Amino acid sequence: MQSSNFIFKNTSLLPKLGCYKAEAPSNIALVKYWGKHGEQLPTNTSISFTLNECKTKTEVHLLEKIEADDQFHFEVYFNNYLKPDFKPKIKTFLKRIEIYAPFLKSFKFEIRTQNTFPHSSGIASSASGMAALAKCILQMEQNIFVDLQEDFLVQKASFLARLGSGSASRSTNGGLVVWGEHSSIENSSNFYGIDYPYEVHDNFKSFCDTILLVDQGKKEVSSSVGHNLMHNHPFASQRFKQADDNIEKIKAIFESGDLMSFINLIEFEALSLHAMMMTSQPYFLLMQPNTLEIINAIWAFRKETQTPVGFTLDAGANVHLLYPKSSESKVLDLIEQKLKYFCQNQSFIKDYVKI
Ligand code: PMV
Repeated sequence: MQSSNFIFKNTSLLPKLGCYKAEAPSNIALVKYWGKHGEQLPTNTSISFTLNECKTKTEVHLLEKIEADDQFHFEVYFNNYLKPDFKPKIKTFLKRIEIYAPFLKSFKFEIRTQNTFPHSSGIASSASGMAALAKCILQMEQNIFVDLQEDFLVQKASFLARLGSGSASRSTNGGLVVWGEHSSIENSSNFYGIDYPYEVHDNFKSFCDTILLVDQGKKEVSSSVGHNLMHNHPFASQRFKQADDNIEKIKAIFESGDLMSFINLIEFEALSLHAMMMTSQPYFLLMQPNTLEIINAIWAFRKETQTPVGFTLDAGANVHLLYPKSSESKVLDLIEQKLKYFCQNQSFIKDYVKI
């Protein structure tokens, strides 16, 4: 499907006034997206697990607009507080999606949103946030056209979400999601995420993700700045090739069920992502001393017990511990006895993945 398929053609039709609600989960990339071109198109394919507990819940209240101008009139509330600082990113999103949802300029609207996890802590809040907002906007389109096909809705939700935040394209549906065209993944697209189309070994069907909150503050470097730094990055082309090769490798791992290879691959991906950050110009570092303490503790634990538990990182200091449900009690013991002391306020979030 091309982007022109998602253009909203009958611009005189409007949705009804009222409240449009949606929620969307966060996701954690196993093979990471870092670098983009054109209008929010990825420079490499990525694949993620969708989480179940970490979510954004959003309501968009469409109200009458008095002004007869060609501007977006909206306010954003986060946890019931007015958030003018959230507006620029959302305005950029609204401008990008204008031809796909032109009715928005005919209304005044309030976006009311809340997360089940700390905002901007490196947990992909922009992913779930933009995905939930995109789904609200798509509901407005459904309010106008009641008989839109399921396939179209699934693709357009992800398509719109991508225009808010690349990784949000992987947060509109669920399970294991691929975003970005790849010759080995049928029907993969740069425009939207798709459900991973192949059989996955039972070892991956019930996975846990415990997020160790090393730092719950706001990120110092936004991911859009980070993506842009890949443009003149000395290792960019190698990195994009590496990620595409890792998609091939993870495909084989999902088939074989080889947990130790899976762990090796996700850790390699996480450290490669951070290596890109550390070697861009300007360079930056998002890991913190406690991130490294946790990584070393996981490696020691794995060496000692052979428990299949590995880590991945997003663009932040927090550590996602990934492990099969069968290792849960051992890993939770490790967290209680050791790892939580490296977390801010000893806090962590238990989440899980369903495929
Ligand atoms: O969606 P963005 O533009 O915030 O980029 C996020 C990129 C990473 O989270 C670091 C990796 C990924 O693939 O999710």
